[in-house]
Amino acid sequence: MRVVLFTGKGGVGKTTLAAATAATVAANGRKTLVLSTDPAHSLADAFSCGVDAEPTEVASGLYVGHVDTQRRLQDSWGDLQGYLTSLLGSAGFDSLRAEELTVLPGAEELLALIEVRDHVRSGRWDAVIVDCAPTAETLRLLALPEALDWYLSKALPAERRVVRALRPLLGPAVGLPAPNAEVWAAAERLQGQLLDVQQVLRAPETTVRLVLTPESVVVAEARRTLTQLALYGYRVDGVIANRVFDGGDDPWRTGWAQTQRRQLREVVDSFEPLPMYTAGYLPAEPVGAEALASLGAIVYGSADPLATVAAADFLQVRQVGSGFVMTLALPLVDKDSLDLTRVGDDLVVTVSGRRRVLALPSALRRCHVRGAHVEDGRLEIRFQPDPDQFPRGSEVHP
Ligand SMILES: Nc1ncnc2c1ncn2[C@@H]1O[C@H](COP(=O)(O)OP(=O)(O)OP(=O)(O)O)[C@@H](O)[C@H]1O
Ligand SMILES: [Mg+2]
Repeated sequence: MRVVLFTGKGGVGKTTLAAATAATVAANGRKTLVLSTDPAHSLADAFSCGVDAEPTEVASGLYVGHVDTQRRLQDSWGDLQGYLTSLLGSAGFDSLRAEELTVLPGAEELLALIEVRDHVRSGRWDAVIVDCAPTAETLRLLALPEALDWYLSKALPAERRVVRALRPLLGPAVGLPAPNAEVWAAAERLQGQLLDVQQVLRAPETTVRLVLTPESVVVAEARRTLTQLALYGYRVDGVIANRVFDGGDDPWRTGWAQTQRRQLREVVDSFEPLPMYTAGYLPAEPVGAEALASLGAIVYGSADPLATVAAADFLQVRQVGSGFVMTLALPLVDKDSLDLTRVGDDLVVTVSGRRRVLALPSALRRCHVRGAHVEDGRLEIRFQPDPDQFPRGSEVHP
């Protein structure tokens, strides 16, 4: 069982490549489900099929799923939303506005992840391919279970005790409805589901694939995403460069091909040793299972689209005491050929003349590099918070 999530900047081809990967995996004889956390029916458009509560089989062994967010919202969020709506109602909001305000930003994508979890646990599929929202939302979403868990396990019980103690005094005076047992139960149910989602997403069988186009802004964002995903404990196992021009005779095409070649070199420098796949700029939109399977065949060639887990753990960031340790797999690295330089928000690692630019996540940007050493083919870099940038007593969260 494998789960592969596709993310990248808006419009780079996430849906197309998730669909093409799923089509290729299914063509290799694995029963495959492809799902989108995006509420728009872009996958249905890519396969040009209808949407239904049950996954639709669009080619032999290839199923396109659709998340019924309305039903999910009602199941997971209904009780909580009802309570929040009544709370806002008592605070003077009319019911329509109150209901609008209680729709959590990202709630639909979150519920889609719960659906992904259900499918992964169902045992029905050999592979589940997930087409995620653009990077920023996906990152927020992937960090959300942890944040909610912190809130629900630390802040909420404290609040619950306070509310219980104060209810007899406060309730009638202020006129705010206190949450009842169903509301707490719903909150706990949601917490359980989210932690389970996180377990599925952090399992060794789950990996993330970054989609990018060879343009500087897109590549820079992909680099940041890589480090941030590592920080949250998610494994990236490959990069797909999409819409690559193959040169040509006219100056316009030659110009673009040259620019892209430069960016592709940057991509290799930034992401090696992760495998990099390339998808050419097709003469038409790849729509339908057949066109998507042929795109997948070009992208992966003879490689198994699911068999890249081994390279996945090359970058890890973990918190140790008050600081952080970033570990980078550098097989066969020689200590003497290693050089580390901090350039603005990036860390430049040079090994035997090869440069690797790593975008630092915000918590690490506010740290000093305290030291580095190489052990068993891994480079460990220690970061310590800069006291000038972290107020005394403040906690450091990535
Ligand atoms: N290699 C390619 N060659 C030609 N057209 C492509 C290629 N890859 C994607 N497209 C087309 O580009 C458009 C955008 O692709 P897609 O919807 O997959 O991007 P996305 O990253 O999912 O976008 P969003 O961020 O909006 O979800 C689609 O019309 C798709 O058919
Ligand atoms: Mg999309």
